[in-house]
Amino acid sequence: MSESPSFAGRDIVSIRDFSRKEIDHILDMAEVMEPLAKKGSDMLHGRIMATLFYEASTRTRLSFESAITRLGGTALGFAETKGTSVEKGENLADTVRVTEKYADVLVVRHPLEGAARMAAEFASVPVINAGSGAEEHPTQALLDLYTIRKELGTIDGLTIGLIGDLRYGRTVHSLAYALSLYKVKLVLISPDILQMRKEVAEEVSKKIEVTETPSLKDHLRELDVIYMTRVQKERFADLQDYEKVKGSYRLVAEDLDKTKKSSIVMHPLPRVDEVDPGVDSTPHAKYFQQVGNGVVLRMGLLGLVLGAL
Ligand code: NCD
Repeated sequence: MSESPSFAGRDIVSIRDFSRKEIDHILDMAEVMEPLAKKGSDMLHGRIMATLFYEASTRTRLSFESAITRLGGTALGFAETKGTSVEKGENLADTVRVTEKYADVLVVRHPLEGAARMAAEFASVPVINAGSGAEEHPTQALLDLYTIRKELGTIDGLTIGLIGDLRYGRTVHSLAYALSLYKVKLVLISPDILQMRKEVAEEVSKKIEVTETPSLKDHLRELDVIYMTRVQKERFADLQDYEKVKGSYRLVAEDLDKTKKSSIVMHPLPRVDEVDPGVDSTPHAKYFQQVGNGVVLRMGLLGLVLGAL
C-alpha cells in the first residue's frame, strides 16, 4: 500500500499546493471524522486554534470552531477587527507573530489577496486560509469536493456547472483548480463581466474540458452538479456594474424538472436570490448538507495539520 501523504505542520493556503492524492486523503479523513462529529473525541485535547477574521463570516469561522471543539481542542480569536490592535495600526505580520504564541494553528480570513500566503510566511505554526479576498477559499473547495463525492459517489466522470460570479467569487476559483485534478467536464456559466478569472480559466483548460457560456438554461440538462454562487457585491469597484448583473440567475424548483434526476444543487452560502427557497424542499438541494460536511472536513484538516491523524 502506498504511504499516506504527510500534512503535519503544513499550511493550507492555496488548493494548488495539493495533489489529487493529497486531496483524496483529506476527503478520506473527513469521512473518518463523521462518527467523531457525533460522539466527540479528545484527539486534539490541549490544542488551541486561533481564528483571525478580518472579514465577515458565519459558516467558515463557526465550523472551524465547532470542528476543534468536537475534537477536544479550544478556539480563540476575533471575528472582526473592531476592538483589536488592528484598529491601532498593527499589521498582519505582527498580529500573526503575536497570536501564534497563543495557538497551535491560525485560521485567517482577510480581504486582501495574498494575505494568507503572507501570514504563512511569518507564522511558525500552520496557517489555514479561510478566504483571501477574491482569490481563494481552499477549505470551502475541499468541503465541496467532499459533498460531491458523498452525494454522487464519485467526482470523476461528472459534468459540473459553476454559476454566477466567477470573477470575484473565491470559492469557485479554488473549486475549479481542484476539479481540474479530476476527470470532469466544467461548464462555467456567468454574465460576461463576471467571467471566470483568466488565470484560473487558462490553467484549468489545460487539464480538463471547459465550456464558458452566459446561459444556464442551455446547459441545465447536462449538469450533475449545479453550483450556484452569490454575486459578490462588496468586491465591485463600481456599484453600477453590480446593478447590471445582480439577479442574473435565479434557480427555481421548476427548473429542476428538466435536470437529471440525480443532479445536485450546491451553494457555498450565504445566498441572496440566486436559489429560490422553493428549491430547498427538492431532493436536489444539498447546500445545507454542505454546511454539515464543512465541520467534518475541517475536523480532518485540523487533525492532519496538527499531526494527530
Ligand atoms: C463564501 C465566502 O466567504 O467566500 N462563503 C463561505 O465561506 N461559505 C461565499 C460568499 O460569501 O458568497
